[in-house]
Amino acid sequence: MATVTFDGVSKRYGEVLAVEDLSLEIADGEFMVLVGPSGCGKTTSLRMIAGLEDISDGTLRIGDKVVNDIAPKDRDIAMVFQSYALYPHMTVRENLAFGLKLRKIDKGEIERRVNEAAAILDLTKLLSRKPKELSGGQRQRVALGRAIVREPEVFLMDEPLSNLDAQLRVQTRAEILRLHARLKTTVVYVTHDQVEAMTMGTRIAVMSEGRLQQVGTPQELYDLPVNRFVAGFIGSPAMNLLEATVDGRRVQSGEITIEIDDARATALKGRTTVTLGFRPEHLELGPAGTGASQLELTADVVEYLGAQELLHFSTSSGDILALVGSEHKTPRGATVKLALAHSKLHLFDSATGAALR
Ligand SMILES: Nc1ncnc2c1ncn2[C@@H]1O[C@H](COP(=O)(O)OP(=O)(O)O)[C@@H](O)[C@H]1O
Ligand SMILES: [Mg+2]
Repeated sequence: MATVTFDGVSKRYGEVLAVEDLSLEIADGEFMVLVGPSGCGKTTSLRMIAGLEDISDGTLRIGDKVVNDIAPKDRDIAMVFQSYALYPHMTVRENLAFGLKLRKIDKGEIERRVNEAAAILDLTKLLSRKPKELSGGQRQRVALGRAIVREPEVFLMDEPLSNLDAQLRVQTRAEILRLHARLKTTVVYVTHDQVEAMTMGTRIAVMSEGRLQQVGTPQELYDLPVNRFVAGFIGSPAMNLLEATVDGRRVQSGEITIEIDDARATALKGRTTVTLGFRPEHLELGPAGTGASQLELTADVVEYLGAQELLHFSTSSGDILALVGSEHKTPRGATVKLALAHSKLHLFDSATGAALR
């Protein structure tokens, strides 16, 4: 097992700065998820760990060894990609064994590792099949198996579930987590899907435009996003974000007025504008008690989700969503009272997006 440490790492492709000054410590045995929108530098970061991209600046360590100039084959890592890239003419057993044969590992040892990986991934009965005789989920398990037989110090996974349908994605997600619990190998897992990040990561590193925004546990990112980007990216449905003006303790955005508490008034001192944030699940139907502000809005769309309903309000400062229990059966067009607890309010600098606390 091993740690992975980025220390001021940058990657340039000509004019494009794909990754900028990345410093990130991934602990031994950790399941670290790199998440962010397409093009933010996730794959590039992973490929630098694998040794598939040169590092333009900074230092990358695996364990305490600097690997900037170490060839991919001499790094003790195994990578799983979105496309399974299995050899179509080989059986599952041959696909699993192939990389080990290339490395001239002894036959008995190959057999031991292949059988063990097959047992872990429930592939034992499929060992003599060809990839075309497998479902998408089974193929992805073979791809995982190919990484497992390497017995690497670090697993690198680049969107390994994106080719699977929704149900299989949930299943395979759990399989990967079980695998990690069992092998306890360091995993660096890339996804653009924040739900995948939240459910899988021991910690999550959120990236945007080549820059690391925040690293933390899923709960830290959800409760205390450091900026507007992380606030809007983590959580589903996304946090409501509104531009507002500040007048003493009153924060106003269109028809919404919020009376802020002492602590927040201090954080807003001297400001005339602020970005207000609150999550759809933190709006509660009904009158506001102490420590909460009252909103009164008209639901122009109601989406029934089974246990919950998602209310859409179109206001002069933009659309607002509220996620409430479906027992309310809010009719479309109804004007409803909503309470927003002050403790659930997020404030961001309207220019820089930095959280104000
Ligand atoms: N080989 C390359 N040549 C030039 N630009 C690249 C290359 N690979 C990636 N990029 C650019 O680097 C940025 C980050 O890409 P990537 O790491 O693939 O993002 P992600 O995996 O987060 O979607 C993007 O702007 C992308 O266009
Ligand atoms: Mg990518």
